[in-house]
Amino acid sequence: MSLETNKVFAAVLTAGVCFMTAGLIGELLVYPKRPAAPAIAIGGAQPQQAAAPAAPAAPAVEPITPLLAAANVENGRTLAHRQCGSCHTFNEGGRHGVGPNLWGIVGANHARAEGFRYSAANQARANEPWTFEALNAFIANPRAAMPGTSMGFNGLASAQQRADLIAYLRTLSANPVPLP
Ligand code: HEC
Repeated sequence: MSLETNKVFAAVLTAGVCFMTAGLIGELLVYPKRPAAPAIAIGGAQPQQAAAPAAPAAPAVEPITPLLAAANVENGRTLAHRQCGSCHTFNEGGRHGVGPNLWGIVGANHARAEGFRYSAANQARANEPWTFEALNAFIANPRAAMPGTSMGFNGLASAQQRADLIAYLRTLSANPVPLP
């Protein structure tokens, strides 16, 4: 083995060791191991029983159906223009931006807008309509609801906000779909 090769190996090994050491130190600093019971009981307080909740396999999205009837369409309009307006237009015949125009989206099939390049993930659902709950799941967490989507939006965590927003999307039609 040439000296050069040895040097390369030594460099790689050193880098690896440094990396591991940094990792260990980091873990010590950031994840201190907590004792199961506190060493000192203050004021006789019972140590909290840390009942670890079982992590659900997939975080369920809170349904919006019960919220839709009383949803605030005006608030939804404001939210839509603030949160989605950088990529979407909402008017009839509006141009596509980074995302497709959303006029008539509620009840329409996935990936239905002419002249917009959808992801394969969305095109694969071209036979499925955008129901209220499909929109709810997508807007709550686009990448979880549709792995592979090209929509670069992190999601709207509040069910009330999603209900308001989707109630507004419903109005973007000459013939709004009946509320569920
Ligand atoms: C950063 C840009 C961006 C933002 C912000 C964004 N979107 Fe999108 N949106 C996209 C893109 C890109 C697509 C196409 C996704 C695909 O084909 O996978 C899309 C697709 C969609 C679709 C499916 C349309 C169809 O015809 O199938 C809906 C519904 C939608 N967006 C709603 C929203 C709503 C509501 C918001 C705001 C809460 C939002 N989007 C915010 C970029 C964005």
